Amino acid sequence: MVYLPLIVAISLVAFGYSQDIELQTSSYSPRLTTGSFRSTSETPDPDSTIQRALAWLITQRDVAWGWRNDTPKAVTALQLVSHDDFAAPLPTPVEMQLSSKELEIEIVILLWRHHEVPITPPKLAQYALALSALCHDPRQFHGHDLIGALQHHEAVHDLDFAYATLAACSSRAHVRKKQIRRLLDIANTAKDHNIDTVAMTILALRCIVKDHRHRNLQHSLRRPSISLARQQQPDGGFGNLYNTALTMQALHDMTEATSHWNKTAAKSYIESRQDPDGAFTDPGLTADVLLALTNHGLGSIRNLDCGKSDGEIENHVEIDGLTKSLSVHGNDSEIRNVTITYTLWVGSNITENCTLAITAPRNTSFYSVMQMAMELDPHFTFEASEWPNGHYVHTLAGYKEEPMGYNYWLLYRLPEVPDPSAPPANQLVAPVGVDDLLIDEGDHYLFWYKKL
Ligand SMILES: *[C@@H]1O[C@H](CO)[C@@H](O)[C@H](O)[C@H]1NC(C)=O
Ligand SMILES: *[C@@H]1O[C@H](CO)[C@@H](O)[C@H](O)[C@H]1NC(C)=O
Ligand SMILES: *[C@@H]1O[C@H](CO)[C@@H](O)[C@H](O)[C@H]1NC(C)=O
Ligand SMILES: *[C@@H]1O[C@H](CO)[C@@H](O)[C@H](O)[C@H]1NC(C)=O
Ligand SMILES: *[C@@H]1O[C@H](CO)[C@@H](O)[C@H](O)[C@H]1NC(C)=O
Ligand SMILES: *[C@@H]1O[C@H](CO)[C@@H](O)[C@H](O)[C@H]1NC(C)=O
Repeated sequence: MVYLPLIVAISLVAFGYSQDIELQTSSYSPRLTTGSFRSTSETPDPDSTIQRALAWLITQRDVAWGWRNDTPKAVTALQLVSHDDFAAPLPTPVEMQLSSKELEIEIVILLWRHHEVPITPPKLAQYALALSALCHDPRQFHGHDLIGALQHHEAVHDLDFAYATLAACSSRAHVRKKQIRRLLDIANTAKDHNIDTVAMTILALRCIVKDHRHRNLQHSLRRPSISLARQQQPDGGFGNLYNTALTMQALHDMTEATSHWNKTAAKSYIESRQDPDGAFTDPGLTADVLLALTNHGLGSIRNLDCGKSDGEIENHVEIDGLTKSLSVHGNDSEIRNVTITYTLWVGSNITENCTLAITAPRNTSFYSVMQMAMELDPHFTFEASEWPNGHYVHTLAGYKEEPMGYNYWLLYRLPEVPDPSAPPANQLVAPVGVDDLLIDEGDHYLFWYKKL
């Protein structure tokens, strides 16, 4: 008779319906004191905070098994937290599968509607990270390369850029030198940036140095990390809950910075801001806090054990750019053709506009594509001069560049066919010349004759 109410309470918690936080906490606490994850120097008992937050997050799941706008963050947090053996309550594997399906449906809708509702880089990064956390490859999402799309859209804002790069790196995609340089620039001028931007940049760089080819960058993390750690406020936080959660993940296990901040105080800051029902304001922020309070934050995604040995995965990175069928069958002699579009626009006001679709083997240079286009349609006739570093296109469709009038041909690589009513921004100008630009499925190229 005495045990009955407790048992009922536990089963309700397991289904996410608990209203009775006190009972739930006391029913779990015996197990927690024996957790082996905690180092002795840390605060005793952050656990009830984690449990109450988890229980609340689960109650917020909707009938479709998602969390409205916060599905990717919630799925990421629940998935990563499940790697910490003390974490409870957790959704059952079947519930997690249903949420993961809902996540995929949301991505499909996002991709489907991207002409009406543009996909922002942070949104795409959230979904890509959630897929990686679930051990799905966001580069091969039902034939869509979400990471390729993210990298084509180089984000204007440093925070979005760092987030997108973290998502790319976490999926073990290749991060370009230019992107690494931009992250290092942000890190080296940390004082001029917001705390969340610096924390996200450090997370992205810490992911990048896990790649053996970039280990030499490890030393460049020291100063920005210390500078970030020193921004801790007297109340233990880093300005607000979100910044504190992100900073704790960025500085997680970072020995160089340990003596410059007080982790216990940061945890207390977070704990003191938990709502009575276990929430941290909303599902998204609750997910961020969960990642900060456990050992598996955003920085741990790249190294998740997804049942593949590291050797296999590294090999996969080396052949980055090969198709799914190649990586599955290991058949390098099979060359897949890809289809791209090539558009010409003339004038800053776009008085001429024409587009060709071209099919060619993947990895063909854009210069060769231009030659094919010229044969298909004389409108695409061009002239280029040869330089030691490659071809320089000065004339296309009968228009020659006019340096005196600042009229030049600018080449863009875009994630969609360019739309004259929404011309692309300058950061989408192709990073390399026509010879070094290699085509891939889903690429859209635009040569635009415009006044600079
Ligand atoms: C860290 O913060 C905690 C809680 O605010 C405090 O008790 C402790 O003395 C601090 N540690 C150091 C080394 O300042
Ligand atoms: C793409 O082409 C370049 C040079 O043409 C070559 O070095 C590289 O290995 C190719 N990559 C793939 C994935 O085929
Ligand atoms: C690779 O593909 C080519 C052409 O599709 C085929 O002739 C060859 O037998 C394949 N090799 C292997 C090892 O599958
Ligand atoms: C381009 O459009 C703007 C405003 O629509 C107009 O003022 C300008 O004269 C146009 N330029 C050319 C070269 O047609
Ligand atoms: C440009 O081309 C696209 C597709 O061919 C067409 O839909 C659009 O109306 C054209 N825009 C202009 C301004 O000519
Ligand atoms: C790929 O395209 C080339 C022409 O560019 C064509 O000759 C070849 O048959 C195509 N291969 C496949 C598998 O479609």
